[in-house]
Amino acid sequence: MSKVTQGVLGEDIIVPKHVGVIMDGNGRWAKKRGLPRKFGHREGAKTFRAIARHAKAIGISYITFYAFSTENWKRPKDEVNAIMDLFEKYLDEVRDFMDENIRVRFIGDRSMLNPRLQEKMKNVEEDSKDFDAMTLILAINYGGRDEITHAVKNIADEVASGKLSPSDVTENLIQNNLYTEEIPDVDLIIRPSGEQRLSNFLIWQAAYAEYYFTNILWPDFGKKDLDKAIITFSERNRRFGGI
Ligand code: FPP
Repeated sequence: MSKVTQGVLGEDIIVPKHVGVIMDGNGRWAKKRGLPRKFGHREGAKTFRAIARHAKAIGISYITFYAFSTENWKRPKDEVNAIMDLFEKYLDEVRDFMDENIRVRFIGDRSMLNPRLQEKMKNVEEDSKDFDAMTLILAINYGGRDEITHAVKNIADEVASGKLSPSDVTENLIQNNLYTEEIPDVDLIIRPSGEQRLSNFLIWQAAYAEYYFTNILWPDFGKKDLDKAIITFSERNRRFGGI
């Protein structure tokens, strides 16, 4: 697991290189206020923007947000549309991130998304590809099992066509066929809202990840909560990682 040491949070804090965030609890946040669920997603999207910026400020190199899973299509059409609309709105806004030298990438199966959305995603990735202050990854129509299946199919095609032999199949080869390709493994996964599971998020990449759970609902998750997660990660490493 590779990490960088940064001074922003304090002298000896070890900042994880790659953080994954499961943006959970939007629906409950809205319900608690007697609002439709889509209002929770709207607040959650604001939190996403603030937390992405703070991640860069504290020296995180890669941050992946789980915005829509391969299972989320099962939700009512109205809710799915609300999430997709928010995503499109933020895709336009994500251009602001580029002024901050942030590279934007998407992981997941795009083929099921609206073609206009797919085009915007491609343009954002292309236009930000040389930015290097931080890589912001959005998981849209993403599922870890779907990702591994997709990788296995690619490799099987190459074996069938004779480009590869079965003995060429290594962990590295599988890694290189995932949506995340050259993105390093995730070091820390944060899940708010009290649930303690991975829900098909980065299942290959999380083999050695640390987990941080909190009861706070995603729309209420603030910069201080991210700091707390990073400090907890750093303490775990101090206890177990040294010689
Ligand atoms: C999980 O909360 C959240 C989602 C399935 C959608 C997350 C989407 C956004 C934050 C907005 C769109 C994304 C971007 C990047 C602009 P939940 O609905 O499962 O909450 P619950 O468990 O309380 O019902």
